[in-house]
Amino acid sequence: MSSDYLYQQLENWLAAGIQTQRWRVGERLPSIRALCQQHHLSKATVQHALQRLEAQGLLEARPKAGYFVALPRNTMNEPISRARIEAPRPASVSELLLDIMRRGAAFDLLPDLHAGELPASIVSLNRSVARALRRQRGDDYQYYDDPEGNLALRQQLALHVARRGWQVETNQLCITSGCQHALFLALMASCQRGDVVAVESPGFYGALQLLEQLELQVVEVPASIRSGLDMDAFEEVLERWPVKACIVSPAFATPGGGLMSNNSRQRLLALAERYDLAIIEDDIYADTAFGIAPDPLKALDRHNRVMLCSSFSKSLSRDLRLGWISGARWHAKIIHLKLITQLASSRYLQQGVAEFMADGRFATHLRRQRHELQERRDQLIAQLQTWPGEIRVSLPQGGLAVWVELAASIDTLKLYPQALQQGVIITPGALFSVSGQFNHCLRISFAHPWDKPRLNALKQLSELLH
Ligand SMILES: Cc1ncc(COP(=O)(O)O)c(C=O)c1O
Repeated sequence: MSSDYLYQQLENWLAAGIQTQRWRVGERLPSIRALCQQHHLSKATVQHALQRLEAQGLLEARPKAGYFVALPRNTMNEPISRARIEAPRPASVSELLLDIMRRGAAFDLLPDLHAGELPASIVSLNRSVARALRRQRGDDYQYYDDPEGNLALRQQLALHVARRGWQVETNQLCITSGCQHALFLALMASCQRGDVVAVESPGFYGALQLLEQLELQVVEVPASIRSGLDMDAFEEVLERWPVKACIVSPAFATPGGGLMSNNSRQRLLALAERYDLAIIEDDIYADTAFGIAPDPLKALDRHNRVMLCSSFSKSLSRDLRLGWISGARWHAKIIHLKLITQLASSRYLQQGVAEFMADGRFATHLRRQRHELQERRDQLIAQLQTWPGEIRVSLPQGGLAVWVELAASIDTLKLYPQALQQGVIITPGALFSVSGQFNHCLRISFAHPWDKPRLNALKQLSELLH
């Protein structure tokens, strides 16, 4: 029996197992060692069979984790709805957002579940924070921290982003109360009431809320769920209206998960220079990349126009309420605005997180989380594939959510109360635009494990829809 024949036998056996769902989408195959033992084959033969299946798109190799059943790429259509370009207008966001946030549901269909144990990394983070609290000196509690934030944390952040090609000094970083606060400071520093701000469409509702509160005008720029901000459309917008700033998420923008190419990034920066724009980079999802985290746009910023905003909310814990901003030419003003809006950040929280980063636990946590998120994305998409009717789903390479486009006749705002009656909370597409162009869409998060109750919630949704 030739060795070709042996690898083909294994290849056929594995392919049949995938076809008959012995291993489902996103599931890990037995290890190479286990396959060698089970089939009395050499490691080279097993590897050869696995690599061939990977080349056929049936398997996906994940570094240090093994081989996983890949998504059948062609069976799911991607969302196609593109925003129209409309004139700048005041921003407004549905009150529904408050209801969703009150229920703790922006990233969970079943927030009441609160199931599952604390992951080991969060237990370890909590210990670091508790240690920092215990280490407080006599009357520390009587003093505010430096408004710029804890130096040890800023040093750790500088080291962290240096791995993504961005060299930043600690005095160019200011700690904030989450990324939302950072975006708020960036807008306040660079815009005045009535100014026009460009955003991705569909885009983050939190940014729209800020524009509403600051009485800024919003102009929505079509964004692709694959490649982010549409640069031709952006240029057209800049030619037509006096845009002051642009909020953009080059890495895994919510809700679509688009990732901007290097060319688009270069073009964005060139346009910023030509039209004298402030660029507000929302980098919050970069650390959730399933592969290597992309470099920030800020790393290419030769003209000091990019304000980078981020936080630990998506990568570590939403409850920390810790974020940061590097404010480019507006940085001094931003520190002042931090002082005005918050005075200072909690010292022991920052110290605890700095310790968690310093001994490599944050990096380890990110590595584990990436695999988990990718698996959850795959499981979610596999479920959505079973929904009847017209449906298109994004395939993000990072982030925490997929964007689901349904038949044009469906209004997901109307679906909200119906789903709520069954205890399921959805995030309707209408929240991601001010122009009502995405009312037939939904954002569904894969931040949580697809346990039985959540799978059931998905099923209930599908039944409600059809
Ligand atoms: C794109 C984006 N930016 C900012 C935020 C706000 O982040 P934080 O919790 O750090 O304030 C979110 C939260 O959902 C987000 O999705």
